[in-house]
Amino acid sequence: MADIKRIAINTGGGDAPGLNAVIRAIVLTALNRGWECYGIREGYNGLLMPEAYPQGGLMPLTRDSVRGITHLGGTILGTTNRGDPLRFPIIDDDGQVYEIDRSEELIDTFKRLNLDALIAIGGDGSLAIAAELARQGLCVVGVPKTIDNDLDKTVVTFGFNTAVYFATECIDRLHSTAEAHGRVMVVEVMGRYAGWIALDAGVAGSADVILIPEIPYDINKVADKVMERSVQGRDFSIIVVAEGARPVGGEATLIGKAIGQAEQLGGVGQKVGAAVETLTGKETRVVVLGHLLRGGKPTAYDRLLSLRFGAAAVRALAEGQSGVMVALDPPAVKYVPLQQATRRMKTVPLDCDTILTARDLGTSFGD
Ligand code: F6P
Repeated sequence: MADIKRIAINTGGGDAPGLNAVIRAIVLTALNRGWECYGIREGYNGLLMPEAYPQGGLMPLTRDSVRGITHLGGTILGTTNRGDPLRFPIIDDDGQVYEIDRSEELIDTFKRLNLDALIAIGGDGSLAIAAELARQGLCVVGVPKTIDNDLDKTVVTFGFNTAVYFATECIDRLHSTAEAHGRVMVVEVMGRYAGWIALDAGVAGSADVILIPEIPYDINKVADKVMERSVQGRDFSIIVVAEGARPVGGEATLIGKAIGQAEQLGGVGQKVGAAVETLTGKETRVVVLGHLLRGGKPTAYDRLLSLRFGAAAVRALAEGQSGVMVALDPPAVKYVPLQQATRRMKTVPLDCDTILTARDLGTSFGD
């Protein structure tokens, strides 16, 4: 069994409500075992470029540092979706950006600082890095974070419930203004290449049309649904669109891709809105919820899940586990190999109960 005395924690990728609750649970659970805890600032950057942090790239984490943070959004450690140690971006003298592997150097830094283990809190990208570091010999436990809920081997990730709750509240608000004006409201939500947020918030918020990446849409079918409602005397419609939704035979709408970063999705809401307005002649407005879904305080569900995940990650280390991710398998929190959890993206199964429910209620998926 590993003899753990000093651990590091980092948060990587996009933030998600619940990160601070995970950090608090890890720190208190570790301190109660007599361990020391350190936070790496902004992913791995605190260790890879400490000169960028006047207060030091490594933050000692005490009871005081985590007091009163369970309900706060964001992360006290900072996060980044740049600075992957396996593909670290470097700018040469000519201004050209290229990527180098700094994982060996990172693992040496852990040894030099007498850090016995890492708890990596992140989504698919950050946990794939964690899996590789574990393969190279670092003692690592992962905690699954993402509002997108697209991580495999856990029933749910923390942050997702808060995003769905807020999106549903927004859809509720858009209903009344859509009805008052007899308009079509298109609501674009995040989720990357998975439709979980759009599906759950769309069904909970009684959307008339839900477009998700897993079901390519035919814009004519979307317009038909709006007109069908009109004929029935329902002069307004709500269309929820996942940012990764794509038309039959088409691609997802990209804003761009910077070196060292994931593709940036967005803009499909505008496309759908413009096409629906042309096809139906109905006044249409588009709302992009974007980063609002990531901000603010976590719901009680996400706080509890985050606290459970954080404490379980420390228990995993205490039990001598490495290369695993804590995962919700109700009613328990279990450990699953990081390699398995990051092998594929968890998308919405087309035969899942929520899709069947939506279809039974008459919701259109544009197919
Ligand atoms: O993965 C979480 C997520 O919020 C996605 O839903 C979205 O596509 C992406 O992050 C946006 O990231 P950024 O912070 O780079 O805009």
